[in-house]
Amino acid sequence: MLKMSRATLMAAALIAVSATAQAATDEPIQPIKPPANINLGMVELGKKLYFDPRLSKSGFISCNSCHNLSMGGTDNIPTSIGDKWQQGPINAPTVLNSSLNLAQFWDGRAADLKAQAGGPIANPGEMAFTHTLALGVLESIPAYVREFKQVFGKEKIDIDQVTLAIAEFEKTLVTPNARFDQWLLGKKDALSADELAGYKLFKESGCVACHNGEAVGGNSFQKMGLVEPYKAKSAAEGRSAVTGKDADRFNFKVPTLRNVEMTYPYFHDGAANTLTEAVDTMGRLQLGKKFTKDENAKIVAFLKTLTGDQPSFTLPILPPSTDSTPRPTPFGK
Ligand code: HEC
Ligand code: HEC
Repeated sequence: MLKMSRATLMAAALIAVSATAQAATDEPIQPIKPPANINLGMVELGKKLYFDPRLSKSGFISCNSCHNLSMGGTDNIPTSIGDKWQQGPINAPTVLNSSLNLAQFWDGRAADLKAQAGGPIANPGEMAFTHTLALGVLESIPAYVREFKQVFGKEKIDIDQVTLAIAEFEKTLVTPNARFDQWLLGKKDALSADELAGYKLFKESGCVACHNGEAVGGNSFQKMGLVEPYKAKSAAEGRSAVTGKDADRFNFKVPTLRNVEMTYPYFHDGAANTLTEAVDTMGRLQLGKKFTKDENAKIVAFLKTLTGDQPSFTLPILPPSTDSTPRPTPFGK
């Protein structure tokens, strides 16, 4: 009897909790929360590594080359330029708010930011280095050796520490306080009538089925070309490359629409140059809906309210190489 009433009480409490949660999250999109539980020492080290081109073979390409934090965490070109000016196969997604993604990369092949961060250093089409060579560079620079030791308390630098530090820095790259978030939090004059009308269209047309949550995306894999096929300019197959399942062909991680005003060009092949074009394509291919010019403009106006406070910090000054630091090979074999 006592057990039952306690269970009933717990159920009632649960319902009460979810009811309050509902009240705060009535909308399909939630405000971005500032980063929590951040290890500041690790962030400072990760920031240096993020900006350090010496983690590349050429000594020229850093994470920031393709995920430029002055440009919404992207390179603003259809597909990235890698070592020796190689053309990349796919558009670089933004690193902003990437900590909110259910997995990393368009096809989700990396589980989290730490798993992702080792990839580009050793990718022959990106930074074209090896982890061993990158560690050799770091080990040759006493200021790095000291800082790694301070942060991780270990004698030797390893790739795990490098990727952990970069991932910790990336956790800070969230963009709270967008005008849309201010509106969500009750500042009713934060949006204009057109922007609000755009949000209404975005909700009622069904965009929110895939673009929802804190990041307005990033939390599911969905088919590109649900109603009408998409003619891609890239050979990427999407999620099926990871699962091996034919049903996952052309499923891509739904990109975040946070800061989308800054992260052009759009789609995994970077084929859409403008938001107007991207919204038109989404309407037709995902929803079988052709927006009028006015409707499209309103949705675009709404999307631009998703630009939040950009990461702001002092540019890290990187410790200089020493006599024993291996030299870069920008043009060599
Ligand atoms: C040469 C350009 C280039 C460089 C350098 C580069 N990236 Fe990327 N990055 C890309 C591209 C292109 C993708 C998408 C690849 C894919 O999905 O197959 C990507 C994907 C990502 C993602 C996944 C985002 C998402 O939404 O899925 C993160 C995070 C990321 N990179 C962080 C980094 C970090 C950290 C570094 C430095 C260690 C780095 N990148 C270096 C081009 C680059
Ligand atoms: C069925 C799921 C789904 C629906 C519905 C949907 N989208 Fe998308 N959206 C996606 C996927 C998946 C991508 C990435 C496709 C690709 O790159 O190949 C995407 C990409 C985008 C992009 C480009 C973002 C970038 O950074 O490349 C924009 C903008 C966008 N959607 C807006 C909308 C709008 C506006 C609507 C409603 C009219 C909408 N989406 C409806 C799944 C969806």
